[in-house]
Amino acid sequence: MAFVYKSEPVRGAAWARAFAERRPDLPFLIWPETGAPEAVRYMAVWQPPEDLARFPNLEVLFSIGAGVDQFDMRRLPPALKIVRMIEPGLVAGMVEYVSMSVLALHRGLPAYLERQRQGVWKAERVKAAAETRVGVMGLGVLGAAALERLRSFGFPLSGWSRSRRDLPGVTCFAGDELPAFLAGCDVLVCLLPLTAETRGILNAKLFAALRPGAGVVNAGRGPHLVAEDLIAALDAGQLSAAILDVTDPEPLPSADPLWPHPRIWITPHVASTTQADSGADAVLANLERHARGETLIGLIDRARGY
Ligand code: NDP
Ligand code: OXD
Repeated sequence: MAFVYKSEPVRGAAWARAFAERRPDLPFLIWPETGAPEAVRYMAVWQPPEDLARFPNLEVLFSIGAGVDQFDMRRLPPALKIVRMIEPGLVAGMVEYVSMSVLALHRGLPAYLERQRQGVWKAERVKAAAETRVGVMGLGVLGAAALERLRSFGFPLSGWSRSRRDLPGVTCFAGDELPAFLAGCDVLVCLLPLTAETRGILNAKLFAALRPGAGVVNAGRGPHLVAEDLIAALDAGQLSAAILDVTDPEPLPSADPLWPHPRIWITPHVASTTQADSGADAVLANLERHARGETLIGLIDRARGY
């Protein structure tokens, strides 16, 4: 029985150390090493190998990230369990990123940075948190954790998801209640998975439904955003600023018009990442569940796409 890791090798070495400390009995191999293909029962990957069929006894495919949109599900055997990453280190990083972004937009930092570049000293009234309504699209593991932290600042909070959720201190909307949700957002945070339904959701129609001068944070996936619509909404003043951690494509080419826009901040897909120690703990706890025949935490529903 062996575990194969296939992703960035530096992180792989940290995972190898974490596994060796916790499960010295479980052979841990870093791709392209696999040992005997028949012995490979588990893999943790960003992208599965092209020749997955070479591993006839593979039982569980773990994504090393929270998202699984990078997998071509049609290529994965129907019986293979696909599991996304749910671990506290990844959650903590996203909570930091969303808090930082919402605070930056609430305090008008993009406009102050633009004025700094122009040498303009001009102050705006300092708004109370209670005046900035923050909405999060996607009330899963990351969206719910981000909202919990944002609550401590005193922002009025709302959230939108596919099925109805109930989160303390958050006005929750679901499904076709999207317009009502958007109408109450001064800052909108996207933490949706990328699926056929959510691709292109951050578009002109959605921006027009937000409160005038709203700010947008996309920490989901680049293809959620229609970039031309964002630029048009910023230039028209419908939006005040946008913070993008994800783009389409990644890396974003240096000539892309998103880069120079004065009201767009871009980070290179670093909002959060799986941490080796807590990630290994989560995966190993899931392997124990698997051995007991229990449902795995983060098991993907292929029909839903997340
Ligand atoms: P979850 O699966 O826990 O949550 C997803 C949420 O989105 C759920 O609330 C779900 O609704 C909602 N949702 C899905 N489809 C729709 C839809 N069509 N309409 C409305 N709501 C929908 O995911 P996580 O919170 O763990 O992660 C979210 C995403 O964050 C990842 O898929 C990934 O793309 C991104 N991410 C980005 C990172 C970065 O560094 N930028 C790092 C990690 C993740 P319901 O509750 O009804 O199921
Ligand atoms: C993830 C990511 O999905 O890194 O975890 O974006």
